[in-house]
Amino acid sequence: MERERRMKPDILDRIVIRMGDITQVEADAVVNAANSTLLGGGGVDGMIHWAAGSGLLEECRAIGWCPTGEARITGAYNLPARHVIHTVGPVYGVDGEDSPRLLASCYENSLALAAENGVRTVSFPAISCGAYGYPVREACRIALDTTLRFLGSHDLPEKVIFVLYSLRDYEAYREYYGEKRVEREEETE
Ligand code: APR
Repeated sequence: MERERRMKPDILDRIVIRMGDITQVEADAVVNAANSTLLGGGGVDGMIHWAAGSGLLEECRAIGWCPTGEARITGAYNLPARHVIHTVGPVYGVDGEDSPRLLASCYENSLALAAENGVRTVSFPAISCGAYGYPVREACRIALDTTLRFLGSHDLPEKVIFVLYSLRDYEAYREYYGEKRVEREEETE
């Protein structure tokens, strides 16, 4: 048991935080910050649809509505991935007190879909942190806490890459990840 624990990579080592454009990042699956129509929009959704090509829109149209907090999986067409996982984040201020729970559901449901589909690496943008107005400092805690909890009880995905488009978002994620590392070191001392 002890040997098994030592051989398993620390869940924090299964998380990567980087800056960049998520449409350029190679991963088995890329998560899209969609809206409930799944028909595309601005922000990262617009860039993913643009880079993937029209086949993605057709597949999304066939799926139809996706409620806030849920996720749906499609092919990735021209993106450097096998799947796109579309999830609909809460609108900060509109979804009110439910926002943290709904945002956590986005991560949880996306990770569950990834695991069910044999995804080894998955990339996430900062869901709800653009047009939907979620403050990144609050959102990144939910993103990382939910992901760490999921990885703690699942072998897949093996790796989760958070791809941040702005320095502000990247720094918020790095800071909270740093806090988690310190907590972890204190636990293992
Ligand atoms: N790669 C990574 N992150 C990106 C990229 C990109 N190419 N483009 C934008 N982002 C970042 C933004 O900086 C923001 O932090 O994605 C985060 C989420 O922002 P939005 O794309 O606006 O997504 P969201 O806040 O969830 O709003 C969803 O926007 O256009 C739509 O159709 C979408 O209506 C939905 C709404």
